[in-house]
Amino acid sequence: MADVAQLNSDPDRLLFAYWVPNVSGGLVVSKIPQRTSWDLKSNLRYAQAAEKVGFEYALTQIRFTASYGASNQHESVSFSQALLHGTEKLKLIAALLPGPWNPAVAAKQIASIDHYSEGRIAVNIVSGWFKGEFTAIGEWWLDHAERYRRSNEFMRCLRGIWTAPDDEGFTFAGDFYRFRNYKLSPKPVQQPHPEIFQGGNSDDARDNGAEVADWYFMNGNDLDGFRAQILDVKARAAKAGREEHVRFAVNGFVIVRETEAEAIKVLQEIQGKADVEAVEAFANAVKTAGASTNNKTGMWATSSFQDLVQYNDGFKTKLIGTKEQVAERIVLLKSLGVNLVLTAFLHYEDDIEQFGREVLPLVRQLEGEGRGKDAAFEIGQTGAVYQKHTA
Ligand SMILES: Cc1cc2nc3c(=O)[nH]c(=O)nc-3n(C[C@H](O)[C@H](O)[C@H](O)COP(=O)(O)O)c2cc1C
Repeated sequence: MADVAQLNSDPDRLLFAYWVPNVSGGLVVSKIPQRTSWDLKSNLRYAQAAEKVGFEYALTQIRFTASYGASNQHESVSFSQALLHGTEKLKLIAALLPGPWNPAVAAKQIASIDHYSEGRIAVNIVSGWFKGEFTAIGEWWLDHAERYRRSNEFMRCLRGIWTAPDDEGFTFAGDFYRFRNYKLSPKPVQQPHPEIFQGGNSDDARDNGAEVADWYFMNGNDLDGFRAQILDVKARAAKAGREEHVRFAVNGFVIVRETEAEAIKVLQEIQGKADVEAVEAFANAVKTAGASTNNKTGMWATSSFQDLVQYNDGFKTKLIGTKEQVAERIVLLKSLGVNLVLTAFLHYEDDIEQFGREVLPLVRQLEGEGRGKDAAFEIGQTGAVYQKHTA
């Protein structure tokens, strides 16, 4: 296996993350057998394997109640912290949900974890899609635009608290949060502050990504979908004077086999064994996400039943095929402006390591050859797969 420091030495490299299975049922809503567990011990193994093979980030999920194939859920921030204690290099992205979290608690908690982990924590601000979850824990269910307006203030507060000058502290008078000369000490280790990701794809989410986040997380999509979204968020960021500050991350479910036909067969089996009741219930619940807004641009607004078997549209990204095909498609994503690929797998016990052994070095090899810079060239090479129906 290639030395990981060597593998990740190019400052312009693509970054790789994986979804942490800290909720039960794996990353697909299917009855197919999975060698994926949600307990801490197993997850420590996955995290240690991941950092050894070159993954640089891992994303934990926040869910408060059972929802559509996740009957057990470990809490995101504490789980991230536990994984940080068992790893040395991996960065953990912990999900925070404005509503249950208040920005003062979050800023303090994350600053401390940044110290314990010597600068390896980041946050993903999610805005909520599941009304039943909010009402179950006695949280107000705001409408879509208001949820995102609250998240916008939440991110401003985090950044403000973490970076306020020591003598003045942080002052803020918003509609959701208020601070007066608040002085956080210790400040985070990371400068200027831990990275802020934002999960969500609707118009409201795009504005937040452009105006206040460091990273805009995209669901799985097709070529035109990615291009349009990246252009749009870049234009919004430019308007906010932040074009240089927003980076792009994309979700993709990975299936690598000896032949493309074998990989597609696995996909078909996952979809064929879908937990129909859970997927349909999920499809119904997400109507309160971006699909509820006027122009219906949000996540899941156009997703089919088959797409929703991976709840972040990960099959659409088509990281499904031989190792060479998957590496080529990843390089195509890079050429479109993607900076980080968020992966998910069927069998975490084996697949993280396999991806690191087989695909990651191929991506680095292609990057070393100068690939992933010219979108027209990459689309010429690989783009056709996103036009034709291969599954
Ligand atoms: C990469 C990614 C991770 C997410 N993680 C979570 C999560 O852990 N918990 C959660 O409730 N929502 C999560 N979300 C959902 C978003 O916060 C948001 O509710 C959803 O994307 C709907 O967005 P839209 O209304 O903009 O379409 C995630 C979204 C993305 C893209």
